[in-house]
Amino acid sequence: MYNDIAKILVDKDTISRRVKELGAEISREYQGNEILVVGVLKGGFIFMADLVREIQCRVNLDFMSVSSYGNSTESSGIVRILKDIETNIAGKHVLLVEDLIDSGLTLSHLKQLLNTRKPASIKICTMFDKPSRRKVDMKVDFIGLEVPDYFIVGYGLDYDGFYRNLPDVCVLKPEIYTKNMNKKETIV
Ligand code: IMP
Ligand code: MG
Repeated sequence: MYNDIAKILVDKDTISRRVKELGAEISREYQGNEILVVGVLKGGFIFMADLVREIQCRVNLDFMSVSSYGNSTESSGIVRILKDIETNIAGKHVLLVEDLIDSGLTLSHLKQLLNTRKPASIKICTMFDKPSRRKVDMKVDFIGLEVPDYFIVGYGLDYDGFYRNLPDVCVLKPEIYTKNMNKKETIV
């Protein structure tokens, strides 16, 4: 698997230190309140599992799975819900947890959708952020690390469904993903 990797961008110890700090930040922000943490599958699952163990508040969990139409490295904002949450979020504090925000199209769509269900609040937490690629103006409440505009894999992030299990976040060799730039529907 590491043969396809150009370099390690963020190693697992750096990720783990930052996740601890984020958990502390979130715990302070929601002190005394219950949170419904909603993970965006598939990419968010590793980050969410690490993050919730660093949050000191009472936490409930739910998951959404969404697909996005685009080529292998870029989403178009056409988002389809493959699995909705099972919780009634009216009056609840919702924290949406995502692996990476790129254009912002996926999460701004999800936030709008969940807002129609009248939660008490809805905030966004992402482990990685590529602010230079943003196409929509969107508030991101908790950010793990800003990353430059490389296509990265690992710690939940995939290319074509693979590499999510890499413990470090790595830059993929461009020849791996430029082979296939056809538009198709992929699960984020
Ligand atoms: P957005 O709608 O453009 O913000 O796309 C967000 C989603 O695209 C993320 O949840 C990822 O699943 C995927 N994505 C964006 N950039 C990368 C990357 O560099 N590596 C892997 N997945 C990415
Ligand atoms: Mg993805």
